[in-house]
Amino acid sequence: MKPREITDGIYAMGAIDWDRRLFDSLIPLPDGTSYNAYLVQGSEKTALLDTVDPSKVGVLLAQLADVPKIDFVVAHHAEQDHSGALPAVLARYPDAKVLATPRGRDILLDLLDLPPERVEAVEDGQELSLGGRTLRFVYLPWVHWPETMVSYLPRDRVLFTCDLFGSHLATTDLYADEARVYEPAKRYYAEIMMPFRKLIQRHLEKVKSLDVSLIAPSHGPVYGRPAFIVDAYSDWVAAPPRNTVVLPYITMHGSTGMMVDHLVGALAQRGVAVEQFNLTVTDSGKLAVSLVDAATLVVGTPTVLGGPHPNVVHAAHLVAALRPKLRFASVIGSYGWGGRAVEDLTGIISHPELELLPPVLCKGLPRADDFAALDALADAIASRHKESGFV
Ligand code: FEO
Repeated sequence: MKPREITDGIYAMGAIDWDRRLFDSLIPLPDGTSYNAYLVQGSEKTALLDTVDPSKVGVLLAQLADVPKIDFVVAHHAEQDHSGALPAVLARYPDAKVLATPRGRDILLDLLDLPPERVEAVEDGQELSLGGRTLRFVYLPWVHWPETMVSYLPRDRVLFTCDLFGSHLATTDLYADEARVYEPAKRYYAEIMMPFRKLIQRHLEKVKSLDVSLIAPSHGPVYGRPAFIVDAYSDWVAAPPRNTVVLPYITMHGSTGMMVDHLVGALAQRGVAVEQFNLTVTDSGKLAVSLVDAATLVVGTPTVLGGPHPNVVHAAHLVAALRPKLRFASVIGSYGWGGRAVEDLTGIISHPELELLPPVLCKGLPRADDFAALDALADAIASRHKESGFV
């Protein structure tokens, strides 16, 4: 695709990756993704903001075919899906300098084979005149690496945010169709940004202090109505959790499955919504999205070789790493002759803001006493949600 003009002298470049289905060998990409770069031309200087994944370097170089000179390549973020084409761009433009935060400079030089004398650090708030328009660099660390910054063009009221506000969505839409992008953007937030939500909450105040008419991220479409994505982020990072239970589970011979079915029914009867995930068929991105708003996690597991099922251990580690707003958690499941399923799982998911509710473990098939214990767990969850104002 050829460069597309956003406004006079600002062009959207980069590559759509329709076929990519996994990021970081971890994150499912059901809708593909894009690696957006932007060309900003002043009357004297030209800057390229970010590059593309190394697999798409040819696309970017073709888009730059009619660009005779680049003075600066701004590397907002050192991860290779944005920085990986830097060596090729520097080779094409021998006078171009890379600009990054000081930490960004260090990481770029660690990750890529770049000439150190061509990578310069910029300060927070530093301005770069291109002639007629000026780029201002704003540090926003930990969205989602420690070195990240964004760029603001006051004259054009454009904010270039790299990963922040991005969406893994392959589309030819230059501007976001809000109804279409909401779910991919929330999935992106859940998988990439949620662990840093407390910092992002502070960063949002910085973003809101800028007069912005366009947010241009480096994944997915551009936001022509910045309030759409800023308000969505405000909700995801700071709104109280909702009256919802997330229930990832595995069942091997049906006993844990019977317990899950009973608990889901009991919670629904008490007005508590449940999102149930059989981990043998679960898209981990969907599980991550469900964690954005949920108040409670209940993990269902059989006991295998003395501990929780490995798929459940994996899900528990994912929950712990994503650091959602969860306030309550419990474990249910069945065992044959003993084991450490509860201890192992609570050891993974525990943190000071999480109240662990009594687990319900049964020996073999669940029976009347076990179903009564699940009803009591449903009562405890429903009353905690009500007392906490989540209903
Ligand atoms: Fe899109 Fe953190 O890279």
